[in-house]
Amino acid sequence: MERRSFLGASLAAAVGLAGRPLETLSSPRPVRDDGILRLGSNENSLGPSSAARRAVIDGLAEANRYTHRVAADLRGRLAEHHGVPERSVVLGNGSAEILQMATQAVASPGGRLVVADPTFEQVYGYGEPWGLERVKVPLTSSYAHDIGRMRDAARRAGGPVLAYICNPNNPTGTLTLSDEVEGWIREDESTLFLVDEAYFEYVRDARYRSALPLAMSRPNVVVVRTFSKIYGLAGLRLGYALAQPETAARIDAYAADSNLNIMGLVAARASVGDEAHLSRSLRSNEEARAVTYAALDELGLERLPSHTNFVMHRVPGDVRDYIRRMAEHQVQVGRPFPPMTGHNRLSFGRPAEMERFAETLREFRRNGWV
Ligand SMILES: Cc1ncc(COP(=O)(O)O)c(C=O)c1O
Repeated sequence: MERRSFLGASLAAAVGLAGRPLETLSSPRPVRDDGILRLGSNENSLGPSSAARRAVIDGLAEANRYTHRVAADLRGRLAEHHGVPERSVVLGNGSAEILQMATQAVASPGGRLVVADPTFEQVYGYGEPWGLERVKVPLTSSYAHDIGRMRDAARRAGGPVLAYICNPNNPTGTLTLSDEVEGWIREDESTLFLVDEAYFEYVRDARYRSALPLAMSRPNVVVVRTFSKIYGLAGLRLGYALAQPETAARIDAYAADSNLNIMGLVAARASVGDEAHLSRSLRSNEEARAVTYAALDELGLERLPSHTNFVMHRVPGDVRDYIRRMAEHQVQVGRPFPPMTGHNRLSFGRPAEMERFAETLREFRRNGWV
């Protein structure tokens, strides 16, 4: 009861702050609210677009069929959307599967995997069973990939190299300048570059651009995208790779047959190029970021510049205590990301949700916890 009235008040406050009507900031249809603030997994708390929701309901009529036709249809839509050949599109069960497939495609004795530290951990994990030699290169002092040192690590390898570049980076939310990434790619024809652009749509920085043109002009570059973030379809599992057709086929060879499900496919098909949903998600994220920044700044908790739907910020003391206390207050925040154990990763929910987070943080300050 108390939480409900508090939520209502903070929602109104956020809307008042934003000076915009409620419906532009909230989901087109409600998402489930069990009172727990889910700010730990970089999801889109607006949820899927109206069109995607309708497509899933209509898609039930095809749930008895295998997915090949609809998958081909989505590949066609994506190819058109990105201006690439259909054979350049590989679909995966989330972009996580694409990352796994690409890792397997280069795995061979003597192969080396070069990743930043910290970065999205999955690729490092996927390399393990294949015996890849795995090299972690710390981020620079501005939390960018240290391209010089990553390039050296690739150059010194005796066998095939997979370089994973997560841009913007998870968990830091920071950018590596496209000039630097492209400089390395242009001079290295033997490394396979896996450029993860899961948060591409959130970036508003002129120094950043997609590596897609390089993926289309070079056989050793793969761009990875997902429907899990800006499109709000994390639970429906749809990601994809864009690469030259031969490279795409090399990666696709590691997919199981019918690796996708009809609901994810039809929702993704309805979402591609849905500019209204995209800008609604973006605007909500920017409002949420502003609310969050204001609270962190008010409390003097240093933060990294966020180019995504999450921010990494300082937490005094043991981050595990902070995470546990937040959970006790019905707020899920990000897990520890060593070696950055003095920070916590916080995903942006809706602006009103971030108001509630801000109130919790102020309470933590009153208790002497932050
Ligand atoms: C950088 C990055 N890549 C890939 C993924 C995997 O996303 P999905 O498998 O849902 O597409 C995530 C998820 O958080 C991510 O942060």
